[in-house]
Amino acid sequence: MAAQAVDVMTNALRIDSMSKRFGERVALAGVSFSLRPGEFVGLLGPSGAGKSTLFRCVAGLERADSGGALLGEQTLGSGHGSGNGGGRIAMVFQQFALVDRLSALDNVLAGRLGAVPAWRGVLRRFSREDRMFAMHCLERVSMLDHAEQRADRLSGGQKQRVAIARALAQKPDVILADEPIASLDPTLAGGILALLRSIASVDNVAVICSLHQLSFAREYSDRVIGIRAGKIVLDCDASGVDDEAAERLYERVTTG
Ligand SMILES: Nc1ncnc2c1ncn2[C@@H]1O[C@H](COP(=O)(O)OP(=O)(O)OP(=O)(O)O)[C@@H](O)[C@H]1O
Ligand SMILES: [Mg+2]
Repeated sequence: MAAQAVDVMTNALRIDSMSKRFGERVALAGVSFSLRPGEFVGLLGPSGAGKSTLFRCVAGLERADSGGALLGEQTLGSGHGSGNGGGRIAMVFQQFALVDRLSALDNVLAGRLGAVPAWRGVLRRFSREDRMFAMHCLERVSMLDHAEQRADRLSGGQKQRVAIARALAQKPDVILADEPIASLDPTLAGGILALLRSIASVDNVAVICSLHQLSFAREYSDRVIGIRAGKIVLDCDASGVDDEAAERLYERVTTG
């Protein structure tokens, strides 16, 4: 009982035996791990390993077949909504997922609503306090000067900063970042990872970030989790990932 209480308090997110199939194809085969508050975890794995499926199941965008997730003390049921109902999981995507015609500020505000149609009308109803908080989030990612700029007029790196501000505006306990640097050049990529890492430690948020480059994972993560064919095959301190472990992770997978 006491041990359970400690466990709940020390984990920001716990995933238990999560499995998911698409027809005959196994995408997740009993994935379990926990994230502590403030931890920055790099998720590595070859294409098709199940990284995006894992994130989508945890965020409630996809329904896991079995297993579950615990966010702090809250059980996340299958098909739960994200960003509302008290679930504080925010996502950051490779392709930013901003609304092109909205300003950076409105994108950050829209992020607080989840999937609400007729955003424009709803956006006007945000209080001054909400707007100030959204501005604060933009300031934290060095995008305050671009608050009024339309999202489609921003560079890739700027878009990703706005997407991170949108995540911050949800006051998350966990941020799931699915290949957030895959569309950026290496210099910008390092800046985005440094930003996510600092958010993890400053805000005590657990950040898990899927990446394709081992070098970035080693440089920025506290811990590396490796997934292959839907199974966790590596989970250790970033400094403990040697070339041999990485090679095993990326060895050619025969897919059907
Ligand atoms: N909606 C879907 N319908 C059918 N199969 C799917 C679907 N989404 C994912 N899959 C399959 O599940 C497996 C895991 O895919 P997933 O997208 O999670 O991999 P990934 O690790 O994110 O790969 P990548 O590095 O290329 O993004 C793959 O075999 C993929 O083809
Ligand atoms: Mg993916």
